[in-house]
Amino acid sequence: MAHNNNQTPVVLITGAARRIGAATAELFHAAGYQVIIHFNRSASDADKLCEKLNRQRDNSCLLVQSDLNDMSGLQKIIDLVDSVGRLDVLINNASSFYPTPLENCDDQQWNDLVNSNLKGPFFLTKGLAPQLLKAQGSVVNISDMHARQTLKNHPIYSIAKAGNIAMTKSMALELAPAVRVNSVAPGAILWPEHELDDTNKQNSVLSKVPMGRLGCEADIAETVFFLAVNASYMTGQTIAVDGGSSNSL
Ligand SMILES: NC(=O)c1ccc[n+]([C@@H]2O[C@H](COP(=O)([O-])OP(=O)(O)OC[C@H]3O[C@@H](n4cnc5c(N)ncnc54)[C@H](OP(=O)(O)O)[C@@H]3O)[C@@H](O)[C@H]2O)c1
Repeated sequence: MAHNNNQTPVVLITGAARRIGAATAELFHAAGYQVIIHFNRSASDADKLCEKLNRQRDNSCLLVQSDLNDMSGLQKIIDLVDSVGRLDVLINNASSFYPTPLENCDDQQWNDLVNSNLKGPFFLTKGLAPQLLKAQGSVVNISDMHARQTLKNHPIYSIAKAGNIAMTKSMALELAPAVRVNSVAPGAILWPEHELDDTNKQNSVLSKVPMGRLGCEADIAETVFFLAVNASYMTGQTIAVDGGSSNSL
């Protein structure tokens, strides 16, 4: 087990084997952090990223696998952080996302979408609060522009992400003054994997983005880094990073 040397800051990023979470992990690593990458099913991507980071700096990356649908999965993450002995930044990035049209949605989808986007981040923050308080650290939650502008056919996801913004505000109060809690609300950054080949859908989404293009992983990672590390007098806030989409609705 890789204990921390008590001088290197530690960041935990959930759902960080791929895509936006992985880019965020690489950014914090480049800034000198020891990075704990959480993943669920993407073991091979997580291994590759962890090996790459550890080649750059010995003992600079750790992995933890768990399903946020499961309270014991949350405890596994908390136990790992306790064994490391330090946590400066928690980034609640993991998320499930798919349509749940009202006429077809069910209890299993409610649990899955709420667990990864709201309940998991809440109980992870609660469980890691002692380490965050000790380090006077910070939390960044990843919400969505569709928390505030509801996405048609996605009621459960939209509700869960709206709760995620409310959680950011509540936790900012609960953990003040020592720990700051903020969030980022991305717009269209990377196409969801179930929409990768749907060019009609993609053109329709892009036609509503004032900047006329997708964002990129770095747009989110850099805003997360700003909130987590530099925004020393900000807490309870959500920053939209969406090419102007939320401003045009
Ligand atoms: N992509 C966008 O354009 C966009 C737009 C708006 C908001 N966002 C938000 O930005 C964040 C990152 O977006 P993304 O597109 O990079 O995310 P993503 O690829 O859709 O999901 C990130 C990771 O979440 C993990 N995850 C899902 N359900 C889980 C569960 N029950 N337990 C544990 N892990 C679980 C998965 O890990 P494994 O693969 O290891 O299973 C997945 O790789 C998310 O919070 C998303 O809602 C993204």
